[in-house]
Amino acid sequence: MAVINKKVFKNTLVIFMFLGLATLAYHCKNGKMESDYYNPEVVATHDNGEHFVGSETCMECHADIYSSHLKTAHFNSGAIVDSSNIKGSFKEGSNILDLETVEFIMRSDGEDFYQHTRIKNRSTEIPPSKFDIVIGSGVRGQSYLTWDKDDLYQLQASYYTPTDSWVNSPGYPTYYDEPRPIRDACLKCHITYAKSVEASPNGNRFDKTQMIYGIDCERCHGPSAKHVGYHRGNPEATESKFTLKIEDLSRQQRLDLCAQCHSGLRNVILKGGSFSYFPGEDLSRFSQNADDTDKEISLDVHGNQYGLLARSECFKQTATMDCSTCHDPHRKERGNTANFNGKCIGCHRDRATACYNKTDNSDIMANDCITCHMPTTPSQAMMVQLTKDSLETSFNIRTHLIAIYEKDQWRN
Ligand code: HEC
Ligand code: HEC
Ligand code: HEC
Ligand code: HEC
Ligand code: HEC
Ligand code: HEC
Ligand code: HEC
Repeated sequence: MAVINKKVFKNTLVIFMFLGLATLAYHCKNGKMESDYYNPEVVATHDNGEHFVGSETCMECHADIYSSHLKTAHFNSGAIVDSSNIKGSFKEGSNILDLETVEFIMRSDGEDFYQHTRIKNRSTEIPPSKFDIVIGSGVRGQSYLTWDKDDLYQLQASYYTPTDSWVNSPGYPTYYDEPRPIRDACLKCHITYAKSVEASPNGNRFDKTQMIYGIDCERCHGPSAKHVGYHRGNPEATESKFTLKIEDLSRQQRLDLCAQCHSGLRNVILKGGSFSYFPGEDLSRFSQNADDTDKEISLDVHGNQYGLLARSECFKQTATMDCSTCHDPHRKERGNTANFNGKCIGCHRDRATACYNKTDNSDIMANDCITCHMPTTPSQAMMVQLTKDSLETSFNIRTHLIAIYEKDQWRN
């Protein structure tokens, strides 16, 4: 009897202890859930220790900006490949890139996408490469990257929007070449953040769990974990905390924010890595263009809106003009002619009709200021070979050298 009683007692004790632990665990879990709200989930940590939380976190308080930002070329400029963002065709007949001595065939099982390689007149077997990352929203084209373990490479097949076809990636030869390692060169301008897992900044190995795709809020506003934590904990606060006040920055600081990606390749790194610069800092101390002395190249229309704008009279003869004078970085505005004409007329009221009357092409141009004063111009740096027999064709980019151009240069 006594023995059994002892056993019952022991079992009861075990049950109580178990229940106690369970309750404790339950409370801890709820406590953690509550503190999760104040400490938003970290999606990546910058080398300086600041935490990124991703734009979905911004939605609850900045709903309008969040939803318009999703449609921008910025947000869609770098992403994990899926059937909605890959523009090139995988359909039989239009899925081939035919080059001199090699042919690439693009195939998909509906879920994953692959580039198959067939070297002509040779039986060398080359394993298919998966399309993992898409670079480019597709306004003009897209390039694709593939992982080999933690190593990142560019695929030889790219997509060109004007002809809706596969093309050889710019810079690749017309024969089969070893896959080109992607150091941070493409990533630094097309995504928000990548963490290199090598000591050397020139490697192509990255931590896949610390990549923030697209040019997201925190690329321009900085890692925002503290800001989100503070405002969730202080819902009554109307004055923002732990964010950079862009309106308080100097003109040069505001320009630098955009110039980090819109002033040429800036491939000479002076300090830190490609993702070290933060808005508000002096960009010229972080990187510069290798070809600063070669005006023809460094001022190419591809990606050097800053350099060109800075040489324009509109910019030189005003104290405040910067990129935000004409662009709302949270909105997709491409093709909104009336919006842009309104910006020009804002400063050139007398010109709203004057140029129109002076030119015989006026009705065709419909007084669209940029057709004549910021014409699209072929890029010398961004070129693509359309067929294996043709010469390279330039991408046409809107010049930011606002000026008076000859009639034969006017182009929309
Ligand atoms: C819990 C609410 C909340 C969340 C979440 C939140 N913010 Fe804010 N944010 C505010 C408030 C409040 C202000 C101040 C009022 C305003 O400007 O809207 C503000 C202002 C800002 C400003 C303007 C700063 C200034 O003074 O010029 C920026 C930039 C900003 N937030 C970025 C972000 C980003 C990026 C995220 C997501 C990573 C985010 N916010 C998430 C509440 C929030
Ligand atoms: C992280 C690099 C980066 C930063 C910072 C950046 N941009 Fe961009 N921007 C790009 C890239 C890359 C594209 C091309 C996107 C695409 O189509 O894939 C682009 C495209 C654009 C476009 C064309 C949009 C369209 O609809 O085609 C405009 C306008 C623009 N940027 C303005 C700005 C302004 C203004 C700023 C500063 C407030 C800025 N950018 C900051 C990289 C950047
Ligand atoms: C210094 C910043 C920068 C770097 C580095 C960079 N790009 Fe870009 N890229 C841009 C900008 C800015 C644009 C938008 C067109 C313009 O204004 O010239 C663009 C446009 C593109 C486009 C066309 C996108 C569209 O939607 O039309 C593709 C594709 C592209 N880049 C691929 C790449 C690849 C691949 C690499 C790496 C080998 C790379 N870029 C490196 C800044 C950069
Ligand atoms: C390409 C850079 C860029 C990106 C990406 C970006 N912003 Fe901004 N943001 C700016 C600039 C520049 C300003 C200052 C605007 C001005 O000068 O008029 C600004 C201003 C703001 C402001 C304060 C003024 C206002 O319009 O209410 C808030 C809030 C804000 N951004 C939130 C966000 C959020 C949230 C996201 C992502 C969903 C985001 N931003 C993405 C560049 C950016
Ligand atoms: C912030 C005010 C401002 C804005 C916005 C602005 N400009 Fe100007 N622009 C000026 C000033 C100031 C000058 C120099 C004085 C003059 O020629 O009127 C100038 C000069 C010019 C010139 C003469 C250039 C030359 O080399 O002689 C043209 C053309 C011009 N602007 C066109 C435009 C167009 C087109 C837009 C819109 C895309 C525009 N501007 C937007 C202020 C502005
Ligand atoms: C005076 C007005 C004005 C200013 C200032 C201005 N832009 Fe633009 N930008 C335009 C217009 C107009 C377009 C053409 C929009 C369209 O195609 O619908 C444009 C187009 C662009 C494009 C797309 C180019 C292409 O052909 O794909 C980029 C990128 C861009 N701007 C970046 C910038 C950056 C970065 C700055 C600051 C250094 C800046 N812009 C300053 C008026 C301006
Ligand atoms: C069909 C082409 C065309 C269109 C469209 C056009 N312009 Fe002009 N613009 C010219 C030409 C050519 C000149 C030089 C002859 C002159 O002084 O009128 C000029 C001159 C100018 C100048 C003065 C330069 C100086 O040194 O005095 C400004 C400012 C200007 N345009 C602004 C605009 C604005 C703003 C718009 C849109 C509302 C616009 N233009 C639309 C062709 C055009």
